[in-house]
Amino acid sequence: MDAMDVIIGRRSIRRYQDRLVPEDVVERLLKAAMAAPSAGDEQPWHFLVIRSSEKRVGVARVHPYAQMVKQAPVAIIVCGDPRLEKYDGFWVQDCSAATENLLLSARALGLGAVWCGVHPVGERETALRSVLGIPQEIVPFAVVAVGYPADEPAPADRYKPERVHRGSW
Ligand SMILES: Cc1cc2nc3c(=O)[nH]c(=O)nc-3n(C[C@H](O)[C@H](O)[C@H](O)COP(=O)(O)O)c2cc1C
Repeated sequence: MDAMDVIIGRRSIRRYQDRLVPEDVVERLLKAAMAAPSAGDEQPWHFLVIRSSEKRVGVARVHPYAQMVKQAPVAIIVCGDPRLEKYDGFWVQDCSAATENLLLSARALGLGAVWCGVHPVGERETALRSVLGIPQEIVPFAVVAVGYPADEPAPADRYKPERVHRGSW
């Protein structure tokens, strides 16, 4: 698929086929995630891949807007490690870039995915640490549910010319 079609056609996918996502495909998603830019190339991220139904149900129990994780064959928890920062406060932007790369590479590989926000909602961070055994110093940033799509939403046209300021505001 053409890169522009991947970007413009990406939508959140919350229903999945009953089909496993092979480990080598997950590995390609993770490579794409870690190819993201980061401040000073600090790469302050970790990725927790979960497949077990028990853990996925646990995630859905503590994240009110991540119920699709129960159906998705895989969920990837993008985590930030602020100890790896070279430039204070940039880890959130770095993890956002990695998360978007996950979504885009999922589409490029024929998968569907959705970003479920965790950080900065403190109670979701605490609950996910507890459910998944994530160390205290690591921040669960987002849950990305991944699977072969059972829905094919049309691309969204969000271009707003009035939001573009050329030359001066
Ligand atoms: C920071 C962030 C947090 C989000 N959290 C959730 C979430 O908890 N649950 C969910 O179903 N979708 C979540 N989404 C997906 C948005 O609802 C979705 O991207 C938006 O409605 C636009 O639709 P689209 O992704 O299909 O283009 C989140 C997206 C972002 C970027």
